[in-house]
Amino acid sequence: MGNIKLAAISSFGLEAIVKRELNDLGYENVNTDNGWMYFDGDVEDIPKANINLRCADRVMLVMGQFEALSFEELFDKTYELPWEDWISKDGIFTVKGKSVKSKLYSTPDCQALVKKAISKKLCEHYDVEWMPETGPEYTVLISIHKDIATVSIDTTGAREGLFKRGYRENSTIAPLKETMAAALVMLSYWKKDRILYDPMCGSGTIAIEAALIGRNIAPGLNRKFASMQWSKVKEEYWKEAKIEARKKIDLDSEIKIYASDVSEKAIKIAQENAIEAGVDDCIEFFVKDVMTIQKPMCEYGILITNPPYGERIGESEDIAKLHKKLGDVFGKDATWSKYIITAIETFEKEFGIKADKKRKLFNGNVKVDYYQYFGKRPEK
Ligand SMILES: C[S@@+](CC[C@H](N)C(=O)[O-])C[C@H]1O[C@@H](n2cnc3c(N)ncnc32)[C@H](O)[C@@H]1O
Repeated sequence: MGNIKLAAISSFGLEAIVKRELNDLGYENVNTDNGWMYFDGDVEDIPKANINLRCADRVMLVMGQFEALSFEELFDKTYELPWEDWISKDGIFTVKGKSVKSKLYSTPDCQALVKKAISKKLCEHYDVEWMPETGPEYTVLISIHKDIATVSIDTTGAREGLFKRGYRENSTIAPLKETMAAALVMLSYWKKDRILYDPMCGSGTIAIEAALIGRNIAPGLNRKFASMQWSKVKEEYWKEAKIEARKKIDLDSEIKIYASDVSEKAIKIAQENAIEAGVDDCIEFFVKDVMTIQKPMCEYGILITNPPYGERIGESEDIAKLHKKLGDVFGKDATWSKYIITAIETFEKEFGIKADKKRKLFNGNVKVDYYQYFGKRPEK
């Protein structure tokens, strides 16, 4: 048991997969509550979790959790927390908030009050009249759910959640978030000795995330995090976490991922992104219209794809044809596993086969389903 409480936040539907990731990183007692996966750790776990988690949105440092039925109670209990242990004299801190099914429902009022309580505590501690707010960034979140307030600080950084890996300089329209693409691969139970194919790869996110998983490259090795500026999270902890992560990289396994798209421009962007991510040797990109695919390139492959959702008039017919084609070519091949994420509710009908499993997810704010068709496994 560590001496600080941390929480990984995930988007709806990915809680179990983030919990699995935390368990794999060695955190045994993970408690899931309302999209937050709580775990105990030490300060060193802030870099470790941020650098290694693939599917979580961000990692929060939980400062306190308490019942708050009045503004006075919220102020007093927030004031009591050890803010001076974390926020430096020159710290810039902003407070974000949300309140669901609670007596204190006015989010702006709660935010203002929490800000006031923290300022008071810090001004008293540092013996100043006001905080200059010129230094590192601390984003505090006050979230109240059924009258229980959780006060936390965002260790990842408010502007750039964990989805931001740093490799995707360019993207095509409607790209998947990197965290979501990684989750789709993890939910498919793809292993690096199997062929993976995304025939509508756009900017290549699914293929690149799969390659990172296959190579065991931690997703956060090449980006910055807000808590890198905090004096309490020492530079050596970040270095240590990166060294540990680099030791685990597998450059030797042969990984075969195929990714294609009808758009030449998309393929060019995807290739550049794969080079930037350092996994271009794992992925074969090519331009191909799904409508011209005759048969799968091999047996026992895994198809993971994100077809267009089609917001323009007339597009839905073309998309229905794409779904049908995927069903005819891959759906009927029992050796292939198929995983398709789409917001289009008629997908199963157009694909022609009922999914073995369907999982509700959110791609940003869009409600989507992840249709899963389990293929036969190759004989050992
Ligand atoms: C929703 S986007 C995929 C986004 C991708 N997952 C990413 O993260 O960037 C759908 C992609 O399907 C491609 N597409 C549309 N019709 C196609 C077709 N007939 N054959 C192949 N690709 C097609 C589009 O060019 C687009 O890149």
